[in-house]
This record gives sequence, structure tokens and C-alpha cells, in this order.
Amino acid sequence: MGRLAGKVALITGAGSGIGRASATLFAHEGARVVCVDIDEATASATVDMVVAEGGEAVAVRADVSSAADSETMVQAAEDTFGGLHVMFNNAGIMHSDDGDAQATSEDVWDLTMNINAKGVFLGRRVRNLGTCCTQMRNKRSRIDDGSTARAPHGRNAELASKEHTLGVDVHREIPHIF
Ligand SMILES: NC(=O)c1ccc[n+]([C@@H]2O[C@H](COP(=O)([O-])OP(=O)(O)OC[C@H]3O[C@@H](n4cnc5c(N)ncnc54)[C@H](O)[C@@H]3O)[C@@H](O)[C@H]2O)c1
Repeated sequence: MGRLAGKVALITGAGSGIGRASATLFAHEGARVVCVDIDEATASATVDMVVAEGGEAVAVRADVSSAADSETMVQAAEDTFGGLHVMFNNAGIMHSDDGDAQATSEDVWDLTMNINAKGVFLGRRVRNLGTCCTQMRNKRSRIDDGSTARAPHGRNAELASKEHTLGVDVHREIPHIF
């Protein structure tokens, strides 16, 4: 039996890269997977891969920087699979125009922070939702992708967004250390 047998896992940014690989891995371990992406076609392609390998998954189009979309994706987990046990806040960007403080435009900063930092913040609010709340509080199965590809010359907005994510995580989730 897989390590995630009987669990429902929601993965944001599941249409590509780490999110897609995680979707197939989680399904291989027995999870039913909610594949969320702002690009519905790529999320659906991930679902096809999971199903082709005998797994169960559903595609949901959602923008993680939107509170309404965040609620929609969690509701989809409830409606389709009856609950939510694992939340992987993975969606993130490293904009090609993200540079140092002088080179990075305000628009690029705002876009990056909205997806990488606010998106994780909104994903964490899932615990305020009925059934999901109870299940997730009991199991504490939440993963935030706070890692960053450290470019040699720095990616101002991307680095800041990930550091924010990790900072919030440490202080909120393991407060007994401080
Ligand atoms: N690949 C790396 O080397 C690396 C290194 C460190 C950290 N990371 C982090 O890992 C995570 C995934 O990286 P990846 O390399 O798989 O990226 P990727 O670009 O391959 O995939 C990201 C996915 O997120 C989706 N997405 C973008 N904006 C979204 C939004 N607003 N709402 C919902 N979905 C959205 C994209 O459509 C895409 O499918 C990111 O948070 C990234 O910062 C990646």
C-alpha cells in the first residue's frame, strides 16, 4: 500500500516541473490528486499522465494569487474527492525580468510577490475551511515550496518572496523553537 493511500492531495502549479512530477509521485503512492494550475491545459495533461498510470486526479484552473480561486480549488477537492489531506503550495515564478533592485520593475515585483508569497498565504488559509480544516489540522500535511534557485546575480523579487514564505513558515508553524 502506498504511503498516501486514502489521502487527497492538492498541488498548485501541477501543470509543469516539480508540480507535475509531484502529482505523478503522489498518485503512485496512492493519493487522489487535485492538479491546480493557472494553465488549465497543462493541468489536464498532468491528469492524463496520472490516469494513464492508473491513478485518480482532477484538473482545476486556478490562480493562486486570487483568494476566490484558492477557495474554488479547495472546494473542488471537497466536491470531487470528499476532503483534503495534503496541500502542496508549489506554484511559483521566477520572472525573466526579475533582476537586482534597480533593474526589477514594480510590476514584476508585484506579480512575483502575489504568486510566490501571497499565493502561499492564501493556500494556508485552507485550514479555515470546514472538513479540510479538521483533517489538515490533525494531520499537519502541508508543504510550501520555499526553495529558490539562487541565480548568481540575484533575483530580487523571487528571492524576497521565498524568504518571506520561509520566514512566515518558521515562526507560525514551529513557534516553540522561538
Ligand atoms: N526548478 C528549480 O530549479 C527550482 C528551484 C528552486 C525553487 N523552485 C520552486 O519550485 C516551484 C516550482 O518550480 P518549477 O521549476 O516546477 O516551475 P515551473 O515553471 O516548471 O512550474 C510552475 C507552474 O506554476 C504555474 N503557475 C504560475 N503562476 C501560477 C498562478 N498564479 N497560479 C497557479 N499556477 C501558477 C505555471 O503555469 C507552471 O505550471 C516554484 O515555487 C519555484 O520557485 C524551483
